[in-house]
Amino acid sequence: MIRRDRTFEFLIPRQVDNLDLKQGTALYLEDISVSFDGFKAINNLNFYVNTGELRAVIGPNGAGKTTMMDIVTGKTRPDTGSAWFGRRINLLRLTEAEIAQAGIGRKFQRPTVFENLSVFDNLELAMAGPRGVWATLNAFLTVAEHERIEELAETIGLADHLPVRAAILSHGQKQWLEIGMLIMQNPLLLLIDEPAAGMTHQEIDRTIELLRRLAGDHAIVVVEHDMDFVRALDAPVTVLHQGSVLAEGSMAHVQSDALVREVYLGTEGAHTGEAA
Ligand SMILES: Nc1ncnc2c1ncn2[C@@H]1O[C@H](COP(=O)(O)OP(=O)(O)OP(=O)(O)O)[C@@H](O)[C@H]1O
Ligand SMILES: [Mg+2]
Repeated sequence: MIRRDRTFEFLIPRQVDNLDLKQGTALYLEDISVSFDGFKAINNLNFYVNTGELRAVIGPNGAGKTTMMDIVTGKTRPDTGSAWFGRRINLLRLTEAEIAQAGIGRKFQRPTVFENLSVFDNLELAMAGPRGVWATLNAFLTVAEHERIEELAETIGLADHLPVRAAILSHGQKQWLEIGMLIMQNPLLLLIDEPAAGMTHQEIDRTIELLRRLAGDHAIVVVEHDMDFVRALDAPVTVLHQGSVLAEGSMAHVQSDALVREVYLGTEGAHTGEAA
């Protein structure tokens, strides 16, 4: 007989849960609300992401985009609602570290790579996982591990930069390295907040290519203000406004939505640009 107690779900090995996550919904946020000093930053939010899906999230400043990511990663606890990773993992019962361990990676806006280490070493360290940093630095890499790092470097466009110190990479290259470091840990869901900020046009194009290539193996949620970026990403779009979903669908669909147009036209001075 299967025991069903509170601790049971924590003990399910990752591989078993991966099977569950291979198909269907990777992330469920239902009826989530959170207030800061009486201000409802997230208001009855329902948001779902499918396994392997690429999704763009847009919305004016203060819409709750970053707060939504904070809730998924355990940084902020909602006042009400539920948050599940697959059908088995209740995110509201896990710590930030446990959520990362379960397979949710997050990329913040500022790249946090180890500047004094090479691109190769950065990727190697990211692989550390349970072995820990010291064990990793002192261990010999297997051929497979070596190949994995080289393959990933190719994917993130840094194959020619493996011996280079991260400090001398461009802003865009550092962003790709950080994405590579997250991918090293095989996340099932990757959350990325405003990747295009500070990038050149060429870097933006390559970032879009990279995210499109990584989707499928990983569900990816990208928050972005740059409408050209979102258009080129060519992924389903969720529009957040005042902590709830205002519209969802293709870029063309949300652009033609009267409420969405109103919200964007009403946010003059924001760095969001126009929705249409
Ligand atoms: N820890 C916090 N304490 C108090 N207020 C907060 C906190 N986090 C977020 N807020 C408020 O919640 C609202 C939503 O903020 P959030 O950062 O999620 O918006 P956003 O959609 O990411 O905006 P932007 O596009 O400017 O990044 C804002 O009014 C913000 O000031
Ligand atoms: Mg934000």
